[in-house]
Amino acid sequence: MAQDAATLTSILTAAPVVPVIIHDDVSTARALAEALVAGGLPNLEVTLRTPNALKVIAEMAKVEGAVVGSGTVRDLDTMKASVDAGCRFMVSPGAPVKLLEDAETIGIPLLPGIASPTEAMAASLMGYSYLKFFPAEAMGGAPVLKAFASPLPDLKFCPTGGISLANAKTYLSLPNVVCVGGSWVVPGDKVAAGDFDGIKALAAEAAALAG
Ligand code: 3PG
Repeated sequence: MAQDAATLTSILTAAPVVPVIIHDDVSTARALAEALVAGGLPNLEVTLRTPNALKVIAEMAKVEGAVVGSGTVRDLDTMKASVDAGCRFMVSPGAPVKLLEDAETIGIPLLPGIASPTEAMAASLMGYSYLKFFPAEAMGGAPVLKAFASPLPDLKFCPTGGISLANAKTYLSLPNVVCVGGSWVVPGDKVAAGDFDGIKALAAEAAALAG
């Protein structure tokens, strides 16, 4: 089967922002997830960029209300490991044909990354209608996605890369943007200091963008 758009619709419409998390400390993973969920951001993308990322995912998946996905998925092995760790969705920076084909054998949906109309069309031809636009700001930002809307009206995007509280609203106002992703709600200094109240406040500020 192609991309499970119904499942992605229900996940990605739950909150306007998906925190992009680079975290290696398993002992604080639950507290971090609890803070983000309590702030109003249930969808958590944990990038597979740290040695303990899969353990972090497994801890975060135990948090009530958390819908944990893996990020930086690049091959079949990392997709299988994502399922085993308790992920409900997966995100990739790109959309190579082999990855999209392999994702069809995995029981949770993949949100693949694209940066051009040709890449978006290639993914669409393989049955993918939800796409990550990456790296969003570097590729031209909201005006590019606005330009995609007329010729590619059936495709929905989650832009990620360079997004902040300041520019998120511009993306979210576009008809083809379902949510945005960003690491600004998980700043390294607050995580290192164990300032989970501060992270909850950032999450609440981000969640309020839905209004
Ligand atoms: C990433 O994969 O690193 C995301 O795009 C996050 O980008 P950001 O740190 O600019 O929010």
